[in-house]
Amino acid sequence: MSSVSQGDAVRGLALLTAFGDSLPGNRGNGLRCTSCHLDNGTRETALPWLGSAARYPQYRARPGYSENMERRINECIARSLAGKMIPEAGRDMRDMVAYMESLRERSRPAEHEPIKLVGNVASGRDGYVAQCARCHGAAGEGVVGLAPAVWGAESYSVGAGMARQFTMATFLRHNMPYDRATVLTDQQAADIAAYVLTQPRQDHPGKERDWPKGDPPADVAYATDSARAAGKPMPAARPLLPRRVSPDSLSR
Ligand code: HEC
Ligand code: HEC
Repeated sequence: MSSVSQGDAVRGLALLTAFGDSLPGNRGNGLRCTSCHLDNGTRETALPWLGSAARYPQYRARPGYSENMERRINECIARSLAGKMIPEAGRDMRDMVAYMESLRERSRPAEHEPIKLVGNVASGRDGYVAQCARCHGAAGEGVVGLAPAVWGAESYSVGAGMARQFTMATFLRHNMPYDRATVLTDQQAADIAAYVLTQPRQDHPGKERDWPKGDPPADVAYATDSARAAGKPMPAARPLLPRRVSPDSLSR
């Protein structure tokens, strides 16, 4: 059994698969880490954690500074789980990092070509009804025992990577529908992502400070201060819901 100072990867995995139930004070929606990082972070097409530990600390353009693994996890807590960050030096973080460390030596798959097609929202609505609603609900609210929310108050925030159309389309193309993950074309994946992302979801306070060097990717759904200062075109505003918990116990 691993010592406390090294962290307990088994307990860490339990937190990653039941985040909201384990840490109700930090819960911001109905997702868990492994809702997106499928198969406990080992599915190659689903934002894998294979080899991730070796990639940090790493400079990242979204925050504009070098992030350690703890901060990267807190970013997914604050944005993807619309939750409240946890202390970097605490036991819960140490155990989640220990799980990431257990995958450090696993070889990282080649990145998939991102799907950067313009999405057609009307086609995407039809596609959602045909391919997704049976599990994720007609109103994107999720179905207990089948699948979590894809929009609304229980879904990821607008500041999440999954709220970017290219990221979501690429995830869908290779992983959804969950039980028939090869049926969508690139265009259908782009259309469905575009439709889902026109629906309301929780805000992410401070998002206007993202990409401080003025280089937001083309599918970022909100205005940033630096892009505005650089005179870049601003994306169309999306409908936002009020935030349930503040992410910001640990701002930098
Ligand atoms: C709504 C989907 C979603 C959920 C839920 C989610 N993440 Fe993520 N996560 C992402 C996306 C998208 C990325 C960016 C992947 C990329 O950079 O290609 C990411 C990236 C990461 C990375 C960086 C991996 C690397 O190799 O750079 C880590 C670590 C991570 N997430 C951990 C977590 C943890 C821990 C949780 C739960 C507290 C969580 N994520 C919940 C979508 C999600
Ligand atoms: C057979 C049921 C099923 C179908 C159909 C299905 N999904 Fe999923 N989906 C799942 C399950 C199960 C997960 C992972 C949940 C977990 O482990 O917490 C998931 C996860 C997701 C996620 C990441 C977590 C979240 O809720 O944001 C997204 C986004 C998603 N699905 C979108 C879609 C879209 C869009 C379609 C239609 C193309 C679709 N799914 C079809 C069952 C399904």
